[in-house]
Amino acid sequence: MEAKTLKKGFTIWLTGLSGAGKSTIAQALYEELHNHRGLAVEVWDGDVVRTHLSKGLGFSKEDRDTNIRRIGFVCAKLSQYGVINIAAAISPYREVRDECRSMIGPDRFVEVYVNAPLETAIERDVKGLYAKALSGEIPNFTGISDPYEPPLSPEVEVRTDLETVEESVGKIIAYCESAGLLPAS
Ligand code: ADX
Repeated sequence: MEAKTLKKGFTIWLTGLSGAGKSTIAQALYEELHNHRGLAVEVWDGDVVRTHLSKGLGFSKEDRDTNIRRIGFVCAKLSQYGVINIAAAISPYREVRDECRSMIGPDRFVEVYVNAPLETAIERDVKGLYAKALSGEIPNFTGISDPYEPPLSPEVEVRTDLETVEESVGKIIAYCESAGLLPAS
């Protein structure tokens, strides 16, 4: 099936702690927008980006900012060609997220705060990294020994400790439809 581009592409920017559920929501959005609706969608997941586009970058503020600017750059380019971009990176710093908003275009940028309390992310500890961060084995770990600046006025906030994935995805899609970025389903 050939994927359809939109007249006006846009970017759904998922920000939140490690383990908050960004990748899960990104995959579910891809499933709905690409597999079900046949739209051209690209997912930019931090873990994946760091094995290719951002290989070699670490977790200092400077390296994180570089990583996020790169993701913002490709999202800006592809958004121009009618593609829906889904970024799923911690993107802990407000200022650089706002830079991405400007680069992509504020009318094409949907910031989604993927919010789970730190305690929930620690309990989930899917990758076993929080245990290592808490013991000091991993330094500069977001939420433990490195900052996370939550969005002040995100377009959408989802609470992954209180909502199902379907509910969270439903809220994001509903926002995009009401903003005229997606045709109503
Ligand atoms: S970001 O800060 O630059 O946006 P990104 O989303 O690409 O981060 O990568 C985060 C992932 O890297 C985490 O989900 C985790 O698996 C891994 N990781 C390794 N070290 C760290 C660290 N010090 N802080 C946060 N995440 C880390």
